[in-house]
Amino acid sequence: MPLKISVRSVLPARETGDLMVIGVPAQGGTSKKKNARSPLDGVDRALGGALGRLLKKEEFKGKKDQQVSISTLGKIKADRLIVCGLGDLAKLGPADVRTFAAKAARAANADKAKKLVIGLPEGLEGRLREVVEGLELGAYRFTKYMTGDRKPKVELGQVAICLTGAAPANAKEQVDLGQAVAAGVNLSRDLSNEPPNVLYPDAFAAAAQATAKDAGLKVQVFDYKEIQRRGMKLLQAVGQGSERKPCMVHFSWTPPGASRRIAFVGKGITFDSGGLSIKPAAGMGEMKHDMSGAANIVGLMSIVGRLKPNVEVHGIFAAAENMPDGNAYRPGDVWPSLDGKSVEIINTDAEGRLILADALAYARGLEPDLLVDNATLTGACVVALGNSCSGWYANNEATAEEFQSSVKNSGEIMWRLPLLEDLKDQLKSDSADLKHTGDRWGGSISAALFLREFIGAVPNWVHCDIAGPAMGDRVRGWDPKGGTGHGVLTFLDLIERASKAAPPAKAPAPSLAKAAPPAKAAPAPKAAPAPKAAPAKKAKAKKRAKS
Ligand code: BES
Ligand code: MN
Ligand code: ZN
Repeated sequence: MPLKISVRSVLPARETGDLMVIGVPAQGGTSKKKNARSPLDGVDRALGGALGRLLKKEEFKGKKDQQVSISTLGKIKADRLIVCGLGDLAKLGPADVRTFAAKAARAANADKAKKLVIGLPEGLEGRLREVVEGLELGAYRFTKYMTGDRKPKVELGQVAICLTGAAPANAKEQVDLGQAVAAGVNLSRDLSNEPPNVLYPDAFAAAAQATAKDAGLKVQVFDYKEIQRRGMKLLQAVGQGSERKPCMVHFSWTPPGASRRIAFVGKGITFDSGGLSIKPAAGMGEMKHDMSGAANIVGLMSIVGRLKPNVEVHGIFAAAENMPDGNAYRPGDVWPSLDGKSVEIINTDAEGRLILADALAYARGLEPDLLVDNATLTGACVVALGNSCSGWYANNEATAEEFQSSVKNSGEIMWRLPLLEDLKDQLKSDSADLKHTGDRWGGSISAALFLREFIGAVPNWVHCDIAGPAMGDRVRGWDPKGGTGHGVLTFLDLIERASKAAPPAKAPAPSLAKAAPPAKAAPAPKAAPAPKAAPAKKAKAKKRAKS
């Protein structure tokens, strides 16, 4: 359930709630500059000067991450007050604003508060979208399977945002947008957190269909039979060792007159046991999150349905369960890809790049201007960058710049890694066109190089290895433990910027508040995906593979 959020230009001291959180810029506190209004005005007086004394004792200067908590003993209309330092407001990035609001929402849940009052200093009224995103993302908990005492009795349901400055005219728009964005990220988290006995490939596809219906998007689901018919043999190989057979999902948003087409692709391994190259027991359960890239596609597309951008957006994911079985694929097998390359299987635990190969070969049939894939692909990427940072690759500098700007705007932690041509030799096979794994060293790079073999003539491609941050080992920023939805915000920024840069659509651009006609009315994409890539493109792809 989304939070009930109100926005008013009012001092927090005049609001009622269970917990009050007030953000204060550096040099703030109660010793403010003459005439400057502070969200703390009125609070210290009501508390009989106790807050001022505490802030002084704690040497509270409003520095970033400084925090002081005080019980109000009923002297203001909240049980507890937390004063948070925000540092220099001019330096507050989207990540800082989101993290501040997320902390407030988390504190509210910890306090069993039903209503949170949050006070923002002057200057943050233009950042309502980020505040609301942070609130919704911070309030997130995955409690679906808890019963009895484990089930939280109280849930944060309401937030009063108190502005020190004037409320902006577009306050409602910002709140709605922030809630739509956070709902998409939270949907991705929910899917990622679902246990693998519940969320298997077909169940995942059903969830995607429900989302598409909600969001007014077109969606196609290819079942196991269709996958075999189309020749998606790599996806078949990975999935056939499971009772729960693989499938593929394709969402599309095709507004009339769109000048740009972006396709997103995700890895949806609903459980990765490693297959016959089985993983060690310790930590295997974490591999329920191995569909986080695909979950991001569902979350992202749910936002696209609300945002109705002026660009064409496709969201594609391949879903499979990687299991050992009498019918499982084996190391030593040779399988053809959707675009006709033969692949020698080395290690059945490197399953992600195989299902992505077929998904990318399918996506390129749409002839996107920009193709972005994301996947919990390699442990090597986690070794390189740690748990909070994903690694990304781009096939040209202009695309890299574009993606880097979106990373900056979103505040997600992502670092560019190189497509080192030097490592390409590792993928040479004695029995097929390609091996699908290389050496242990540079494992994230060789995986990216393998994927590149399947993008054909797509001019702009980004691959994002989210293995680390997709599954949080602890609370961090606005992210909870478990599924995080890392990636959605950056991908959304790519879409929003492309939409802003695009010439206006022929039909009046529908606003978020006003329901637009259903997406069904939109025409089909220019190029229908062919089971096999066009011969001309195939030749180009071959050339690239050899160069
Ligand atoms: N899903 C894993 C990668 C992974 C590891 C994600 C840790 C999140 C946390 C992937 O399918 C995998 O097993 N990759 C292997 C590849 C290797 C066999 C070449 C790996 O990274 O060890
Ligand atoms: Mn694996
Ligand atoms: Zn995997």
